[in-house]
Amino acid sequence: MKPVKITDTTFRDAHQSLIATRLRTEDMLRIAPLMDKVGFHSMEVWGGATFDAAMRFLNEDPWERLRLLKQNLPNTPLQMLLRGQNVVGYRHYPDDVVEKFIVLARANGIDIFRIFDALNDTRNMAWAMKVAKREGAHVQAAICYTISPVHTLEKYVELAKELVDLGADSICIKDMAGLLSPYAAYELVGRLKEAVPVPIQVHTHYTSGMGTATLLKAIEAGADVVDTAISTMALGPSQPPCETLVAMLKGTPRDPGLDLELLSKIAEYFGGIRAKYQAYEAPITVDINVLTYQIPGGMLSNLVAQLKEQKALHLLPKVLEEVPRVREELGYPPLVTPTSQIVGTQAVLNVLLGERYKVIPREVKDYVKGLYGRPPGPIDPKVKKLAIGDEEPIDCRPADLLMPALEKARQEIGELARSEEDVVSYALYPQVAKPFLERRAKGVNFKEEIAAAIAACIVANRKPKVPQIPAYAVPAAQPFISPWKLAARPAGGWVRW
Ligand code: CO
Repeated sequence: MKPVKITDTTFRDAHQSLIATRLRTEDMLRIAPLMDKVGFHSMEVWGGATFDAAMRFLNEDPWERLRLLKQNLPNTPLQMLLRGQNVVGYRHYPDDVVEKFIVLARANGIDIFRIFDALNDTRNMAWAMKVAKREGAHVQAAICYTISPVHTLEKYVELAKELVDLGADSICIKDMAGLLSPYAAYELVGRLKEAVPVPIQVHTHYTSGMGTATLLKAIEAGADVVDTAISTMALGPSQPPCETLVAMLKGTPRDPGLDLELLSKIAEYFGGIRAKYQAYEAPITVDINVLTYQIPGGMLSNLVAQLKEQKALHLLPKVLEEVPRVREELGYPPLVTPTSQIVGTQAVLNVLLGERYKVIPREVKDYVKGLYGRPPGPIDPKVKKLAIGDEEPIDCRPADLLMPALEKARQEIGELARSEEDVVSYALYPQVAKPFLERRAKGVNFKEEIAAAIAACIVANRKPKVPQIPAYAVPAAQPFISPWKLAARPAGGWVRW
């Protein structure tokens, strides 16, 4: 008997994927005592988009949320998703910010750090892994799963070995787009189990409708832990449902042994509160585009929005054909933030302007320069020439080009910061954290209705009319802020390793 262990994602990925990251702390705390009784291997409760969204949309302090969850989930290890050098943001941060964030996340209650990089460039993960390890946390290194001619089983195995050498306590196959088919999962998990001595965890999304089958085959192949969400917060773009998997494995050697009755009480609770978040609901349907184009759901809605803005929605079929071409020319990056935006924007421009690479956005140039990391495959020489001319891409770790930023952040935010946590919030998200800290300092009574009204405006792409807190209204285009303005690297200076 070797029960499979289950990580519950309801408080992080599930609501990020289903209801635009809007689940409020109060709604988590009410059910936390019951969830703490389930016996989950861990609960993913923090990181990803939740950090930004808490301050931006909910007027909540993400650190306070973490402390409250820790108090109310004393028996369940808490897990977070960390985007490697991107921490919980959309760009690279310097090492001092990464370090301080992890130290504080650990101190406030995180037990397991799941760390990944969009390009699977281990140089963008190594520092975060080292700090988390030093702080005594469990370091789970994640492999972003995608499908391309350069993403072979051998490459994934090699990557897993490298991550274990870097100190990974476990490996996660992170299928962020729901591309992992049951039989591919069986093969990949089997190979990883043979190749590395650490536990293998599988994370997938139900987007393509394959999720539960994928987990089942992964478990057959020996996966140690899998990610699910409570059924009423599962399916669609979220994770496969926990209860279904528990029932499927009942009485087998991999039976996780969780109490279905207890789980159904929890499911009932979330079924009840979903109504509150109706405005943010993602459609629960099998996303055909994942199956046919391997384009993640979130990326498709971005493409549609960009085309609508240009009154060119009729070009969508052409763009869907162009995306795989651009992706190939850029060396097959996995399509996940920020690479999905990089590839998507270039594809839209190529189609709209009727001439490929006539205009190349800054982000694409930065990508070609290597500022996001090493592309998985070679970049087409013609595209490289068009993007950066004869300039050579960098060959160092991208974050080596960044100046330390923590002290500067501390000075800038001044007395608005009441704690080191506030300083880090500001260092990560200056345009979101500052208005948040100002509102807190003024004791602004931030009514939920106002939040909902603003959020509705943002969704509808209108400028919100809420004069008393204008800063809050800026739906800042975070993904495309390039951090490499500071580029000059002092000789033998602040580079850690
Ligand atoms: Co996910």
